[in-house]
Amino acid sequence: MMKQRVKVWDLAVRLTHGALAGLLAALLLTGDEDGWLPLHMRLGVLLLGVVLFRVVWGFVGSPHARFADFVRGPTVVLEAARDMLQGRSRHTLGHNPVGGVMVVVLLGMLLVTAGSGVLLALGPEWRELLPLSPAVVAAVKVAHEAGAAALPVLVVLHVLGVLFSSWLERQNLPLAMVTGWKRGTADSSPLDSPRRRGLGLVLALGGAAATALPLLILLPPRAASAAADVLEPYRVAAQQADSAFQGFDAARGRRLYLQTFSTEAGPTSCATCHTEDPTQPGRSPAGKRLLPLAPSANPQRLSDARTVEKWLGRNCKQVLGRLCTARESGDVLTFLLTTPGAP
Ligand code: HEC
Repeated sequence: MMKQRVKVWDLAVRLTHGALAGLLAALLLTGDEDGWLPLHMRLGVLLLGVVLFRVVWGFVGSPHARFADFVRGPTVVLEAARDMLQGRSRHTLGHNPVGGVMVVVLLGMLLVTAGSGVLLALGPEWRELLPLSPAVVAAVKVAHEAGAAALPVLVVLHVLGVLFSSWLERQNLPLAMVTGWKRGTADSSPLDSPRRRGLGLVLALGGAAATALPLLILLPPRAASAAADVLEPYRVAAQQADSAFQGFDAARGRRLYLQTFSTEAGPTSCATCHTEDPTQPGRSPAGKRLLPLAPSANPQRLSDARTVEKWLGRNCKQVLGRLCTARESGDVLTFLLTTPGAP
């Protein structure tokens, strides 16, 4: 049969494919550095919007964009996989059944990773909206990290699969995802009326924008997740110590920070060394200059849970004559985390 050039991928499929690839690369690059977190969170929300668009488009898009076109049962998938492995090319105009599985797995994994990331990015606030146990909160973090670790592996498998299929079919499939054209025998899948497609587009865009835009506005300007990480163990411990625990309180933390206790070295407070304004540099009794404690003035502060625990332990013993409770520690840290920087 004569092979002809057939338009397979509509513009929306090609654009979302490119956007997902680009956003995922940027997200993987910005995920590990605290300084990049604000950008990472916003790119993640964009990715979530693009994935949602693609999912809706999988129901209302052009024929080969639809899940119904390429999601097949296990028997068909296994048969197609066997054919591929035996080097037999069978003609599928859209995604072949094995590729279809990969599309669903990738979209699902992107959805899980971006969704859990958005929850983490919203910081502790979202937990107060939903009555969630610490175990669920921890699971959200695990899901995000597992997704972030799995995605590069899946992408490599996806690329290898596409290259292998290109070789089997003797055509450039990556190029087809750019231009939209493939060589093949045109099927007679009827194109939708422009009106129906327009309606589909409005639906997909509307759904994605309705999710992503409010989230973009809600996201805190500063990375909440590093702070949330430092507070998390204290929050769990405070909850265990007192089931009526209502969350940390910056004002209570400030009072403790300024409170003077009598010690062997005379009246002492946290402010004795760190000064009353934690955005200012302090001084140790030995005269050593201490950098400001508030992360707004010194971004390195409170970024490492072990350092925080070590110094809180020492300093509380020195000032209060005992270890701070989990609630006291969380209160003080919340005070330090929420102290705004000098204008
Ligand atoms: C006798 C002086 C002194 C007093 C009093 C003191 N600190 Fe410190 N604090 C230090 C020194 C020294 C360090 C470690 C050097 C550094 O990180 O600048 C430190 C480090 C810290 C850190 C580590 C932060 C980070 O991420 O690097 C925290 C948190 C902290 N102090 C909180 C407190 C609190 C809360 C109090 C009151 C209960 C307090 N400190 C009282 C001297 C003091």
